[in-house]
Amino acid sequence: MNTLTIRRLSERVGAEIIGVDRDTLLDDKTLPDHVLELLEEHGVLVFRDLHLDARTQVAFARTLGDIDTSPGHHAVEGIYRVSLDTAKNTSASYLRATFDWHIDGCTADGDIHPQHATILSAHAVAARGGETEFASTYDAYDALGDDEKTDLLGLRVVHSLEASQRLVTPDPTSEQLAVWRARPPKVHPLVWTHRTGRRSLVLGASTDHVVGKDTDESRALLDDLLRRCTRADRVYRHTWSVGDTVIWDNRGVIHRAAPYEPDSEREMLRTTVLGDEPIQ
Ligand SMILES: [Fe+2]
Repeated sequence: MNTLTIRRLSERVGAEIIGVDRDTLLDDKTLPDHVLELLEEHGVLVFRDLHLDARTQVAFARTLGDIDTSPGHHAVEGIYRVSLDTAKNTSASYLRATFDWHIDGCTADGDIHPQHATILSAHAVAARGGETEFASTYDAYDALGDDEKTDLLGLRVVHSLEASQRLVTPDPTSEQLAVWRARPPKVHPLVWTHRTGRRSLVLGASTDHVVGKDTDESRALLDDLLRRCTRADRVYRHTWSVGDTVIWDNRGVIHRAAPYEPDSEREMLRTTVLGDEPIQ
């Protein structure tokens, strides 16, 4: 295969992959396994100047696993258009919740597990804001003291769409509430023990409360863990240029977008590689 150069982007999360271009992305049959290994190791992979078109992005995503093909406000199946412009994405108002730290797919319907990998390519960037920040939830777990690890191991947390939407829409209409509540909450362990044996914390905007703890104690614990997990020195902040593609691993990374103007031309194309690992 081509020789790849791996350049770490921060001390704890993220690496830039140098040596791949769009024209050869699909040719190298060893690349997908290599990308998946690097994703497991670094949590976030950045490819600059890739300039992926939608179809190539979907074809590459399929080499990494099964993908989400539900409608995404875009002509190409497997692409979801991320834009705050309601003319381009009629569900744009929901995307404001991505300004808070979250795991993609943490409150998905039914038996669907958190998404394995999210692939995002920049087709237009915001004049101000719109950076994406990442923090490792593996690292956050590893940094806990032994007693704290023991205390957290048995805890279970209710996650809901309502919890994440309330952060950006604190005074919802009854119609909004009804839509949010139509998606049933999910209960996940706070500590995710992965098939690999690694452990991560399951945190973010969708956390409603810890089962069996009162509201204040519950919120204080979840907020404290999230604050420590996302301390500035633990975060990689990606400033987008047109042509960048970033892939992250939702099993061990939380992320958020920095706010940007609703009329911004920022447009990202997302493809989701489905997860097959329950939070357990
Ligand atoms: Fe997201």
